Amino acid sequence: MNDEYESLLGRLRARRSIRDFQDLPVSRADLSRLFEAARWAPSNHNRQPWRFLVLEDRARIAALAAGVGRRLGELAESLPAVAAPHAQELVRHATVFGRAPVVIVALHRRPVQLAQPLMREAETPVLVSGEPLSVAMAVQNLLLAATALGLGTCVLTAPLLARSAVEAAIALPAGCEPTCFVAVGYPAETPPPPRRKESGLIVEYLDSPTPP
Ligand SMILES: Cc1cc2nc3c(=O)[nH]c(=O)nc-3n(C[C@H](O)[C@H](O)[C@H](O)COP(=O)(O)O)c2cc1C
Repeated sequence: MNDEYESLLGRLRARRSIRDFQDLPVSRADLSRLFEAARWAPSNHNRQPWRFLVLEDRARIAALAAGVGRRLGELAESLPAVAAPHAQELVRHATVFGRAPVVIVALHRRPVQLAQPLMREAETPVLVSGEPLSVAMAVQNLLLAATALGLGTCVLTAPLLARSAVEAAIALPAGCEPTCFVAVGYPAETPPPPRRKESGLIVEYLDSPTPP
């Protein structure tokens, strides 16, 4: 087997979502290495529709998590009775970034208005526009770079459910939408890899290969 592939696969498998961090700062030099990796991601029409806001103040990060937790708690009050028991777990899932020394808010630019008429048949126009997907690819680059530097990360979208709490804490740049949070820090846990679906369950070859 090709060594380069094996080595890349090893790195992909080694990345884990980390939700518990050591009480250590992350240097600006390492943060800039993460963004260097991020900016080489592919993007729609090479628009590079990403922005990254970096939070490094622990008190501010903790306050943001508390605000998200409070707002999600309020929203969860109107959940149907059958879902209500899961509300606490959701709040926990949305606020684990509160103990991270660094939180990156990844943003995508809103798609250009001119393209709207082309989107009539698309069920999810924002996804088809490519902006959030481009940011997701940049974020994956960033996660892999973090793993290579010994840093732990966790992508979070649950905090975005509490949009008003996020907006109250962070001035979002005009024309940008938050795509996800990324918690970053030195890991204080080594979680086992969560189970993956086998390829046979997720891949369907629609044709036989065309003979040469
Ligand atoms: C788009 C996306 C959103 C996620 N949102 C959250 C989140 O809100 N809270 C959280 O604790 N983990 C979140 N995760 C992390 C997943 O739970 C994690 O990737 C998954 O369980 C697989 O574990 P692994 O990353 O260690 O392989 C998110 C991951 C992705 C890709």
